[in-house]
Amino acid sequence: MNTDSAKIKKRYNRIAPVFDAIEGLMEIAFFSNWRKLVWQKTEGKNFLEVGVGTGKNFPYYPSGAAITAIDFSDKMLVRAKQKAEKHDIKVQLQLMDIESLKFADHTFDTVIATFVFCSVPDPVQGLKEIKRVCKPGGKIVLLEHVLSSNALLAAIMNLLNPIVVRLFGANINRRTLETVRQAGFKPIHINELSGDIVKLIEAWNTPESDKKTTPARL
Ligand SMILES: C[S@@+](CC[C@H](N)C(=O)[O-])C[C@H]1O[C@@H](n2cnc3c(N)ncnc32)[C@H](O)[C@@H]1O
Repeated sequence: MNTDSAKIKKRYNRIAPVFDAIEGLMEIAFFSNWRKLVWQKTEGKNFLEVGVGTGKNFPYYPSGAAITAIDFSDKMLVRAKQKAEKHDIKVQLQLMDIESLKFADHTFDTVIATFVFCSVPDPVQGLKEIKRVCKPGGKIVLLEHVLSSNALLAAIMNLLNPIVVRLFGANINRRTLETVRQAGFKPIHINELSGDIVKLIEAWNTPESDKKTTPARL
């Protein structure tokens, strides 16, 4: 594991015991509705949730689906395991880094992540790995906060970012939509949930998305 990953993992291990409490009000006011939407967008029966954290998506898992969920923070995963046992949630929980997934190519119908790509140290590598394990024709569903397109707000977010990263391990100035494009997903569908900052992103692993763009001839 590289230094950046070790640092972020340490931060999530540190906040794991208070993570649910920190987000409690936001969860009731906004996140719970957004999570419902995310899980309504899944397709197929075999799902991977990356960056499962303390298992806040468990109440929205569709019944009858085979779900594997991973995280690289052992302390977050302990909380998720306790929650899964308490509420009898059928999920395979595994300690794993999104940037090097231990699954075979083309394993999952849908890969889900909620508020994860703000903290993955190398998000392009993470999304490329997800593309590899996603079946051809499969999709990803992401719920992410990103940098605002408003210049003033973006400047404030950029200014505050180092403090937020240090405290919580999350960046508030990521351009996750561009990262999804860079990783090769196509088409991409966006649902704006709060201004242009919180987005529900659906993107597909189509054969079209594997085609390289041919440079124009001079
Ligand atoms: C902000 S929390 C979100 C947790 C959960 N998805 C939710 O919606 O509450 C981000 C999670 O992503 C995990 N994470 C970040 N980078 C990761 C990586 N490279 N591999 C695996 N997990 C990662 C962190 O450990 C943390 O649990």
